Amino acid sequence: MSDRVVVAGAVYDRGRLLAARRSAPEELAGRWELPGGKLEPGESPEQALVRELREELGVETEPVERVPGEWPLKPGYVLRVWTVRLLSGEPRPLEDHDALRWLGPHELDDVDWLDQDRPAVAAVAGLSAE
Ligand code: C5P
Repeated sequence: MSDRVVVAGAVYDRGRLLAARRSAPEELAGRWELPGGKLEPGESPEQALVRELREELGVETEPVERVPGEWPLKPGYVLRVWTVRLLSGEPRPLEDHDALRWLGPHELDDVDWLDQDRPAVAAVAGLSAE
């Protein structure tokens, strides 16, 4: 069986990357991630990402490009990441998160990323440095 996809967004605004601190479940709470979530039946990854970011952060966004690579999560799930442009709204931690931070290019190591998000953030940083 193929792995189920979890999509996450590298949301950029004025050169800064948005990091979100998880409030649940207990084993992930307090760790930081690129916001996103699971695909619902019939959704494309891009549609799922726009929906998740609307639900979790209250913003309208546009996926820009897929970050090359794919990172394993719990068994049966993989993480895929897109860079995302903020179209409207100011992100707020409405669902699943209890804090947000905008990280400048030299601040990417300032938060305790989820283990599985670390290589994804490194890949994102590599892209934006090009
Ligand atoms: O947010 P949601 O609970 O739908 O995410 C599904 C799963 O994907 C979670 O169990 C979480 O561990 C994982 N995830 C992750 N890194 C992200 C986004 C989600 O590990 N950036």
